[in-house]
Amino acid sequence: MSKQINQNKLIVDPSRIPNHVAIIMDGNGRWAQKRHLPRIAGHKQGMETVKTVTKAASKLGVKVLTLYAFSTENWKRPTDEVSFLMGLPVKFFNNFIPELIENNVQVKVMGLIDQLPPKTQQAVRNAIADTSQCTGMILNFALNYGSRLDIKLAVQQIASEAKAGKVDPQKIDDAMISNHLMTGFLGDFQDPDLLIRTSGEERISNFLLWQIAYSELVFTDTLWPDFDGVNLSQMIEEYQQRDRRFGGLNNSK
Ligand code: FPP
Repeated sequence: MSKQINQNKLIVDPSRIPNHVAIIMDGNGRWAQKRHLPRIAGHKQGMETVKTVTKAASKLGVKVLTLYAFSTENWKRPTDEVSFLMGLPVKFFNNFIPELIENNVQVKVMGLIDQLPPKTQQAVRNAIADTSQCTGMILNFALNYGSRLDIKLAVQQIASEAKAGKVDPQKIDDAMISNHLMTGFLGDFQDPDLLIRTSGEERISNFLLWQIAYSELVFTDTLWPDFDGVNLSQMIEEYQQRDRRFGGLNNSK
């Protein structure tokens, strides 16, 4: 059967929506380059896509949407670009908070927030506070996030607890490790069901390495600024065609 591209004809099964969708938003620079625009124009358009995709995901019934907005490695980019990227959360939350609240979306941020410029820190802390009463989808930004850092901090924390006699090293298990990671607060939804990367690159780039052990990975050539609600539905449709076995056997086989 050929893939439907008209949103009305998409065959997304509403009873099997992935609870946690994580996205590596890639291709902003190439989007801008194709239009002979500076790279930051791609990031600006990428921010608009974040709004569109947040609303679409919330409408579809996604419980957690984790977006890789800035990695611990992104500091290597030119200063101008880094400072533009640091300004994006300020712009984003300045005008999008009312719509987030209208959609009952709660904002969370994971990463080394204390290392961000003061204005960015303030913007994210305000957004978290302003949406703290919302009970719908969690919009979880990975900001100054790196998965190896996440794992390293969790190991350090568990080691300290062991040293203090609070944890028996023999009793360290998957759940304890998961709970010490930055996604720990997500409870039953810590691990993404679906990981999407846009722009044709097929890499994980230090994103949620522990958490994606059994995630379905879907890659699309669409550049992030061109991605929209229809694309998201298509990715979910692809996810729904996968046979998730978690290392076991499908019951029907
Ligand atoms: C990767 O594209 C994108 C980023 C490093 C930044 C992602 C940020 C946004 C999409 C906006 C985030 C919005 C908020 C509200 C925080 P790239 O620059 O690596 O693209 P390229 O591979 O084509 O050069």
